[in-house]
Amino acid sequence: MKRLTVPKIRARKVDGTTEEPIVMLTAYTARQAQLLDPHCDLLLVGDSLGQVIYGLPSTIPVTMEMMANHAAAVVRGSYHSVVVVDMPFGSYEASPQDAFDAAARLLKESGAAAVKVEGGEAMAETVAFLSQRGIPVMGHVGLTPQAVNVLGGYMARGRSDAEAEKIVSDAKALDEAGAFAIVVEGVVEPIAIEVTKAVSCPTIGIGASAKCDGQVLVTEDMLGMFERVPRFVKKYNDIATTIEETAKTYAAEVRDRGFPGPDQLYQPKN
Ligand code: KIV
Ligand code: NA
Repeated sequence: MKRLTVPKIRARKVDGTTEEPIVMLTAYTARQAQLLDPHCDLLLVGDSLGQVIYGLPSTIPVTMEMMANHAAAVVRGSYHSVVVVDMPFGSYEASPQDAFDAAARLLKESGAAAVKVEGGEAMAETVAFLSQRGIPVMGHVGLTPQAVNVLGGYMARGRSDAEAEKIVSDAKALDEAGAFAIVVEGVVEPIAIEVTKAVSCPTIGIGASAKCDGQVLVTEDMLGMFERVPRFVKKYNDIATTIEETAKTYAAEVRDRGFPGPDQLYQPKN
């Protein structure tokens, strides 16, 4: 199977409609990417790895090194999906030039195809600057976790008219600047639908609407790795219990000398 491309993803939305919704999941490691890859169109190396992998309190402390290393692992583990890397907080906001340097470094060190930046109108110039210079950009509007200190929390966006209008105009600005797709996160459903109708590029929803052009979830959330997840997460499995039960069984076998058994041991030649 040949790897999908950014233009092919962009072209999935024709005249405002996407026949088959676009599938995206996060991936942070090679093996995880390998398992998810055949089922996805896009793999996102999200800066959510700050909380999910590193136990950080938010995505704010995530570094370029973390993003580049995990992105390289995900590229090595995949051969079908388009790999998109989140630009970490602080690496792209100050100027289009800063953003280009950081994005180029991420793509050169990882082999990923595109980057994702949070923010709307304020990022439009940067989106144009990068995409005109060889770096495809995915936008991200609504609940933008890197802005937690400005927003004051992770609550859904678009409940007031002013907020709703801002989300729609932000998405339009990114679309006009050349974003190839836009993540719409934590937005009241009618506004997610309005955004999807208002932009020519595909929208990828998370806590948004089934009418978005695609969907994304954090893989560990979807797998049931965590007890507490946002309302918009559907737990498709209970991997936390599987891990706990397996560790419990292993520990018991070690303690009663049941492991290792004859199958796991080497014997001298006779
Ligand atoms: O970092 C992340 O995982 C994301 C997705 C939730 C869209 O940005
Ligand atoms: Na992110």
